[in-house]
Amino acid sequence: MSTGGRPRVLLMHPILDPGPAILAEAAEVIAYPQGRPLDEANIRQAAEGCIGIVSQLMDPVRETVLSSPGLKCVSNVAVGFDNIDVPAATAHKVMITNTPGVLDDATADFAFTLLMATARRIVEADSFTRSGQFRGWAIDMMLGHDVFDATLGIVGIGRIGRGVAHRAKGFNMRVLYYDPQPLPPEAEQQLNARRSSLDRLIAESDFISVHVPLTQETQHLISTAQFNTMKPNAILINTSRGPVIDEAALVEALKAKKLAGAGLDVYEREPAVHPGLIPMPNVVLAPHIASATVRTRSEMSAMAARNMATAVRGGRPPNLLNPEVKR
Ligand code: DGY
Repeated sequence: MSTGGRPRVLLMHPILDPGPAILAEAAEVIAYPQGRPLDEANIRQAAEGCIGIVSQLMDPVRETVLSSPGLKCVSNVAVGFDNIDVPAATAHKVMITNTPGVLDDATADFAFTLLMATARRIVEADSFTRSGQFRGWAIDMMLGHDVFDATLGIVGIGRIGRGVAHRAKGFNMRVLYYDPQPLPPEAEQQLNARRSSLDRLIAESDFISVHVPLTQETQHLISTAQFNTMKPNAILINTSRGPVIDEAALVEALKAKKLAGAGLDVYEREPAVHPGLIPMPNVVLAPHIASATVRTRSEMSAMAARNMATAVRGGRPPNLLNPEVKR
């Protein structure tokens, strides 16, 4: 759809260079009105007359939006796409694209950052030192948990999970992974990773790092039953999606010392964080920044813009999630 000839694309939020230039070459870019609530009715209204929407993970793109007349493509600037109703998009013949691959290393790095920070109490240690409480070395000060030689359980061994396993080799960790899809034997050998049931992984791991997409099957995959069988020294890391972990159950489990700590980048009701987590010194909290490096976020922006530009020009975008829409 276009108003003076050029197709129009709704850009929900600013993206990084070179994304804007790639989009501007292909279409007239309309910015979503700043401050307007991110609900479906408002997005639908803003998308009127647009052939495409460049969305981000906080934008609900469901039936109301996807049934907008003339809409052909929604390009999500994220690898996760649980904010989009893909079956509804397919029914309305709207292409959906995402940004796989470019954020794997940054996210795996960050999962490891959270793991180390939580194990060695680095956030607590920093505020302790800054606030002048360090008055001399003590044998029992800020004791943490060993990472070297520990057992790491990876829930979901996709690209990011494999990246975490790769990093764990440097720490001589024993790696267990849970995934419906086994790794090829040579990859298991190369990563020194052994497939396990979720129950065994939960019961044997010193660190548990979650790397699954959010689906109906993975919602609350880690809940009370899992917390009840964790080692009391276990540390849980989540850089995937908040609802994979039952946050209320996590708070109760931490209070009951069923596990030793958690490093979280994502939350069940983002941007809200469960109030029970806030005062806990054994929990490290980050604001969904696992992919936030200059290079990665630029590459995500460029990839999303290229996906959209290809769709606007009538082509088949490279990262199409519902190929049945465009044969
Ligand atoms: C994603 O891409 O899904 C991340 O959560 C944000 O980079």
